Amino acid sequence: MTELGYRFLRACRRQPVDTTPVWIMRQAGRFLPEYRKIREEADFLTMCKTPELATEVTLLPVDILGVDAAILFSDILILVEAMGLPLKFYEKRGPVLDHTITDQSSVDKLGIPDPNDAVPFVMDAVRMIKRELNGRVPLIGFAGAPYTVASYMIEGRTSKQFAKIKALMFQEPKVMHALLDKVAKATTAYLNAQIEAGVEAIQLFDSWAGSLAPVDFSEFAVRYSRQVIEGLKRDDIPVIYFAQGNPAVLGRAKDVGSDVIGVDWRIEMKDAWDVLAPDVAVQGNLDPTCLFLPPVQIKARVKEIIDQVGGRPGHVFNLGHGILPQTPVENAIAFIDAVHELGQR
Ligand code: CP3
Repeated sequence: MTELGYRFLRACRRQPVDTTPVWIMRQAGRFLPEYRKIREEADFLTMCKTPELATEVTLLPVDILGVDAAILFSDILILVEAMGLPLKFYEKRGPVLDHTITDQSSVDKLGIPDPNDAVPFVMDAVRMIKRELNGRVPLIGFAGAPYTVASYMIEGRTSKQFAKIKALMFQEPKVMHALLDKVAKATTAYLNAQIEAGVEAIQLFDSWAGSLAPVDFSEFAVRYSRQVIEGLKRDDIPVIYFAQGNPAVLGRAKDVGSDVIGVDWRIEMKDAWDVLAPDVAVQGNLDPTCLFLPPVQIKARVKEIIDQVGGRPGHVFNLGHGILPQTPVENAIAFIDAVHELGQR
């Protein structure tokens, strides 16, 4: 922390910083050998549900990479399970739900859980992480945005075509809206519990919203993320909204009312900035695969983005999506160092 406060939180609030803050989506994950070692002993969901393990993994990138924020080790699907759809995790296929949402009666069966009863391990992890961080960097809490979470509930797994979601959306819009409203209410309660436990910023992941046409993006994604954000008891806790996959809808994303908008790499930073700033801060946006370049070239790519921001306040550096498991750790370190060096004011 500098004498003015955490540079990550300052940038979220568009205040001046000593240098550009940076963190990496999926920073507490499989690209770290230390993570893979812990994973040999425990499956993924056990790691999420054991505060000691979640704490250990959350802290790894702070110690190893020198990032400016920690993000809670958990998953957007933890809330799905708590609402009543059991989750299984397969090594090769990723997360799978056996029961999915198909109609109004399946929506009616979903619960809106009290997070402290249903997922106490999340709030225990938050408190434990905060103790261990001991003020080094702020802790980001998170949830999936309602559209992405509802989509998972309908598709049951990662999808390429999104045929089931879109069929329900267009054939049974009332059911889709009822589902989104319920997920939004559960998400609001879940994030408020994280805030109460001590997280200092929030990110809403709308990973699948980029598949929507602009008009549907506003009606099915933005509207319910806005509902969540309006329901947060957050004082000055910044909220980051990140919908990846379609920069053409960035202007509409501003309607969610977040402090920061995350952008992926499919748009140049200066163009994203023109659409978003100065109303909101901007997070992003190096292509995650650029971390396969040699460090000299990673630095050149970082410089292009920093130059496009041109020293204006309100930039949080990040990748344009999660770091890939194959990424060499030394390249991730080179990335963080390059941002801190080139971002100096
Ligand atoms: O960023 C962090 O380091 C914090 C932890 C975090 C995880 N998942 C851990 C995880 C966060 C913020 C998430 C969010 C998440 N989870 C999203 C939104 C972000 C995005 O990537 O678009 C989504 C869509 C999910 C759902 C999910 N979880 C999938 C599709 C998968 C399997 C594919 C994959 O990327 O591994 C997961 C598993 C998962 N979540 C892992 C981790 C570390 C890998 C587990 C393992 O194999 O050890």
